[in-house]
Amino acid sequence: MTSDIFYAGIDLGSMNSAAVASNSCRAFLPTTVGIPKDGLAATLLGDEPLVGESIEQHKMALKLVRPFQFGALKYGEQIADPPVHAVSYAKKVLRQLTQGLEIPDGQQVRCVMGAPSRSTLENKQTLLSVVREIMPTVALVPEPFAVAYGLFSTARQALIIDVGAGTTDLCHYYGAFPQSDDQATLAVGGDRIDQWLTELIMEEYPETEVTLEAARVIKEMHGDLKSEHGPCEVVLPTKDGESRAYDVSSALAQSCRLFADQLTLAVSDLLRQIPDHFRAEVLSNIVLAGGGSRLHGLGNALERSCSCFGLCKVSAIYDSRFAGADGALKLAMRINDDTWSALTQTTLSEASPSQTLPGAAA
Ligand SMILES: Nc1ncnc2c1ncn2[C@@H]1O[C@H](COP(=O)(O)OP(=O)(O)OP(=O)(O)O)[C@@H](O)[C@H]1O
Ligand SMILES: [Mg+2]
Repeated sequence: MTSDIFYAGIDLGSMNSAAVASNSCRAFLPTTVGIPKDGLAATLLGDEPLVGESIEQHKMALKLVRPFQFGALKYGEQIADPPVHAVSYAKKVLRQLTQGLEIPDGQQVRCVMGAPSRSTLENKQTLLSVVREIMPTVALVPEPFAVAYGLFSTARQALIIDVGAGTTDLCHYYGAFPQSDDQATLAVGGDRIDQWLTELIMEEYPETEVTLEAARVIKEMHGDLKSEHGPCEVVLPTKDGESRAYDVSSALAQSCRLFADQLTLAVSDLLRQIPDHFRAEVLSNIVLAGGGSRLHGLGNALERSCSCFGLCKVSAIYDSRFAGADGALKLAMRINDDTWSALTQTTLSEASPSQTLPGAAA
């Protein structure tokens, strides 16, 4: 590690982005831009998309766009909407975010950034094209791996599950860079739960109008994976301009369950690949990260559904906002020059740099 290098860790999320740096600066921002709604708004607010606090200030005059919504561009072949602008919108968010890091002019920067565990070459190229304009020297690592590296100061067996808005990323951690078989990405995260919830409520109550945003708030406040659920009344607008209280408990339970079932399948697949003599330790150390880790009952539901593998203990990290960026920074600061070169060279491939990590030797 050379002291005249400026180190940064970035988590460019589908919904929220965080950045931290070796000078102790920390920044957090929704990955959202606000586009003036009409010609009049453009004359007042300008043509440039707004980010950060100015969005809150002018919300009613803006159309809000999340360039990575549903994991678009970050994972798989989904196309962002509108596709041509998504990358420039993401750059706008990242530029604002990294302003908060107070990067000294002219200083060499080393940045580690999280990417979905199984993102494609194209996804990685897109992410790099977003970040390289601002930080030319950057390496991508799987999002849950960054969380794990930040979390543990010694090598140990763990399974990290990062439940984000766009994707849910899983990684078997054991103190070295993970191989592709140690990881999985589910193309479902909080955004998909919101979509299922919207559809299920409108199917049950066709007269209602439910936005994805409203569904997200309902999910965050009342979502629960407990097996018994009582009524859950929320006030929703109706198509004729009124609003009424509706019991959304069944739609909510169903959408959370759909997610938990898919997650159980992915976790089980990964657990099956772990050699028997390590599996018990992994089972006792399953960690939920990301905003979706706050979904009530998710840990208990996983403990129940994975109990066929043995006694299972699931915990949730304390700070879901900065865990990915903190781990990425720790990695950037700790790896030596050789490992850094290997990491940047393998950033655009599926290979791992094949080096044991500092502070994580078994
Ligand atoms: N209390 C809660 N219950 C359920 N879900 C929650 C809760 N709080 C936040 N979430 C969900 O967490 C998700 C956002 O998590 P996070 O900020 O980790 O995503 P992200 O990192 O931006 O996305 P990704 O990692 O997929 O790119 C949203 O879907 C949000 O609704
Ligand atoms: Mg995330």
